[in-house]
Order: sequence, then structure tokens, then C-alpha cells
Amino acid sequence: MSDGIFITLEGIEGAGKSTNLSYIKDFLDQAGREAVMTREPGGTALGERIRALLLDTPGIEIPADTEVLLMFAARAEHLDQIVRPALARGKIVVCDRFTDATYAYQGGGRGVPYERIALLEEWVQGDLRPALTLLFDVPAEIGLQRAGHRSAPDRFERENHQFFERVRQAYLQAAAREPHRIRVIDATASPEQVKQRIRSILGEALVA
Ligand SMILES: Nc1ncnc2c1ncn2[C@@H]1O[C@H](COP(=O)(O)OP(=O)(O)O)[C@@H](O)[C@H]1O
Ligand SMILES: [Mg+2]
Repeated sequence: MSDGIFITLEGIEGAGKSTNLSYIKDFLDQAGREAVMTREPGGTALGERIRALLLDTPGIEIPADTEVLLMFAARAEHLDQIVRPALARGKIVVCDRFTDATYAYQGGGRGVPYERIALLEEWVQGDLRPALTLLFDVPAEIGLQRAGHRSAPDRFERENHQFFERVRQAYLQAAAREPHRIRVIDATASPEQVKQRIRSILGEALVA
């Protein structure tokens, strides 16, 4: 059986990743493609514990390097347990956030040098990279406003606008470097327009 396809969803909080994950699942189902939906950090029992540490540790400071290392610890586990086995079975894996998020948040947002992240990427992933990344792009102000209507803010959501604007710019720079893999979706558009754009990108990717 041929290898599956690894697709990732990226963007700041409130951009619409989670909203569109189930839409993408339905779209792929209808196209007759089996898809595994997952997320990072998380996706496994241990990964979800690491996620909880990263998102909510009241009263505990997490230095930026520690944050990067925890992200990649969760990623190593997730790739081993979920992503690689599913790809080997020919499935499409759709992951809500992946390594582009580490470059954007810990690199762009917190200033961890790109080369350090690249070192861990190499170690943990070898040559595994997403085949396709949908970058849901919204200005920080709109994203945060949307995310604000959800539950209580997590450790990242408590960051200020400047932080999320740096994250957003880092994402857009990544897309400019790799325009073929990273497809930017204007997520300020209506939910229906966003879905239409997703259909067009996925349709193209599935026949390629
Ligand atoms: N295109 C859109 N227009 C308006 N609101 C949206 C749009 N996409 C998502 N939302 C809303 O924004 C909020 C955050 O979306 P969500 O999918 O949770 O973002 P993310 O997972 O990227 O943080 C949700 O309440 C969702 O219904
Ligand atoms: Mg989400």
C-alpha cells in the first residue's frame, strides 16, 4: 500500500483550525479517503499530559527552551504512536498544529533561535515533513477576539497582541519560503468562503 499523506493545520488562536478539522474529515470521507484526525501537542495519553503542562501550569514559569523541548518530547511520542503508523497504512493524517507552530510560537514569538529548533526537527522527525499545510491567517486582533469567546484563556492565549502578531508574521514568512507546501487561507473570510478554499486546495492535493 502506498504511503499516506501528512497534512497539517496552522495559524494563531482563533484562526479556525479546530472548526475546520471536522469539515476536512467529512470532505475526505466523501472523497473516499480514510483520515486520522489528531493534534499537537497531544494526540496520545502521554502527549495530552505534556499538553496540559504546556497550556496550564498556574504559578510555574516555563522557560522558552523547556517549552521547545516539551513540544518535541510530545512530538516524538505522537509521531511514533500515531502519525507514522497511520501513514504506513496509507491513511491521510490531518494534524491540528505541528512543527511550523514551534518555529512560529517558540521561534518567532519567544525568540528561540531557528537553528535550535531545526536541530530538534531533524532529530525527532528525520526527513518526515508535512506534504501540505493549511495556514489559516488572521490578524492577531481578530483571532484573539474569536478565541476569547471560548473557555478561559490558556497559557498561550494570555500572551499579548504583539506576541501573536510576531507568531503570525513568522507563519507568513514560512509560507513565503515554502509556497508550494504552505497554502495561506484568508481566515477573515466567512466560514463558507474558508471551506470553499479548503475544498479547492484539498481537491488539488488529492489528484496531485
Ligand atoms: N471564518 C470564520 N468567521 C467567523 N468566525 C469563525 C470563523 N472560523 C472560525 N470561527 C469562530 O472562531 C472561534 C475560534 O475558532 P477555532 O476553530 O476554535 O480556532 P483555532 O482552533 O484556530 O484556535 C470559534 O468560535 C469559531 O466558531
Ligand atoms: Mg483549536
